[in-house]
Amino acid sequence: MYELTEKDVEFYLENIPGVVVINMDGKVVYVNDQCAGYFSMERQEILGKHILDVFPNSKMISGLAKDDISLEFYSSYLGIGITIQVPLFRDGQKVGLLEYDATQDSQFLYDLSDGYSRFLDEELKHLKKEILKLEGSKYSINNIVGNSQAILRLKEEIISAAKTNSTVIITGETGTGKELVAHAIHNLSNRRKSRLVKVNSSAIPENLVESELFGYEKGSFTGALKEGKQGRFEQADKGTIFIDEINQMPLSIQPKLLRVLQEKEVDRIGSNTSIPVDVRVIAATNEDLKDMVRQGRFRGDLFYRLQVIEIRIPPLRERLEDLEELILHIIDELNVSLGLSISGVAPEAVQTMKGYHWPGNIRELHNVVERAMNYAKSPILQPEDFRIGESRGAGGIMEFVSSHPSENPIELVRNKAERLLIISTLEKFGNNKTKAAEYLQIARPLLYQKMKRLGIE
Ligand SMILES: Nc1ncnc2c1ncn2[C@@H]1O[C@H](COP(=O)(O)OP(=O)(O)OP(=O)(O)O)[C@@H](O)[C@H]1O
Ligand SMILES: [Mg+2]
Repeated sequence: MYELTEKDVEFYLENIPGVVVINMDGKVVYVNDQCAGYFSMERQEILGKHILDVFPNSKMISGLAKDDISLEFYSSYLGIGITIQVPLFRDGQKVGLLEYDATQDSQFLYDLSDGYSRFLDEELKHLKKEILKLEGSKYSINNIVGNSQAILRLKEEIISAAKTNSTVIITGETGTGKELVAHAIHNLSNRRKSRLVKVNSSAIPENLVESELFGYEKGSFTGALKEGKQGRFEQADKGTIFIDEINQMPLSIQPKLLRVLQEKEVDRIGSNTSIPVDVRVIAATNEDLKDMVRQGRFRGDLFYRLQVIEIRIPPLRERLEDLEELILHIIDELNVSLGLSISGVAPEAVQTMKGYHWPGNIRELHNVVERAMNYAKSPILQPEDFRIGESRGAGGIMEFVSSHPSENPIELVRNKAERLLIISTLEKFGNNKTKAAEYLQIARPLLYQKMKRLGIE
């Protein structure tokens, strides 16, 4: 067996920088030569003295009060050092404190901090790539389901829009896939390696729209962040900005938006220098902007600047031949997230659904299929599983609660009721959030918050 001698232990201890041990009275009971040399003293001069008589700047006395290992900075003639303090326990009783140095000079710390920022940069690059991959796979052109003439034409329009940098305006009823198309264009364009930043003009309170879009300098208004804030346009530099529901953009902001589109630079609030941005703009609307211009609710100059490429997404009722394929696609998606194994839909059910006018388009179809899957008794969805255009009440409530045993029943039912009410209200008003919020007597941003919390698209 290997014999460990006192000499070995002494040799090992000597190789640790700055070792000092004090007892509970603060007297030095051990110090290694390395540490004594650091203070140009002899070891024997130090032993038995109070630590503060030898090293007046020492933080060991306050360290005696702690029960866990701690780390302290100190400064010396070599710059900044870091010392590690280890409380010593014998038979459960604290008997003193051992201290040694992790580093005795600043250069080490600078190298460490450089290394750390390089590590963070790498990590950040890696995460950015992962996010782009995730976004890219969720919303590529291949995720646009359908083989109707209308969809094939739409795909051609997406491909040609992706080849340019021109502003695109996407029009279409609610739930037709405007956001999906915006992502598909971005992901096919040569900007796909940068971000697609989404702004929803109606989800932000009017007085915050400007700072959200263009950012602000530090201290420009009360409640502003100390260091100032980048706007969405700056965040989208080299990428794409998707301005959803542009028809809800406050009239007061529209001239500023026009200026960014024309000059390709943004002015942060409270700043007098402009920041150049290289951003491609895609906007979406579910209201006819031309009508709005005629009624004085949207600025004509901005409308003409936006209208370079227009992509119109047809409503579902104009391409009912895609219905079955869409239903099967939604079933596949929901089987995964709901943990079900529905395998198809009966032809009679598809036939009945073709007779409906689908005001909420694919999103409504999504809800209808989700509901049918929840109530289905066989692996093939039957006509009676579908309750089109109506939302179910609180029937079967005990069954519902007992199928989620780990959750608080009242919370669960309250959320479900709130979710149903919001979905039904949105359906009632053709997904017009302004009207839905008015009807529910809440502010529009709160409606968005609730939709997000309850997982309503
Ligand atoms: N052709 C399609 N193929 C597959 N899924 C689609 C298609 N069109 C829309 N969807 C799906 O339908 C849902 C609604 O689409 P999206 O959010 O893009 O609609 P929207 O036009 O932006 O609606 P709104 O005007 O209400 O914001 C999404 O889950 C989307 O993935
Ligand atoms: Mg949308």
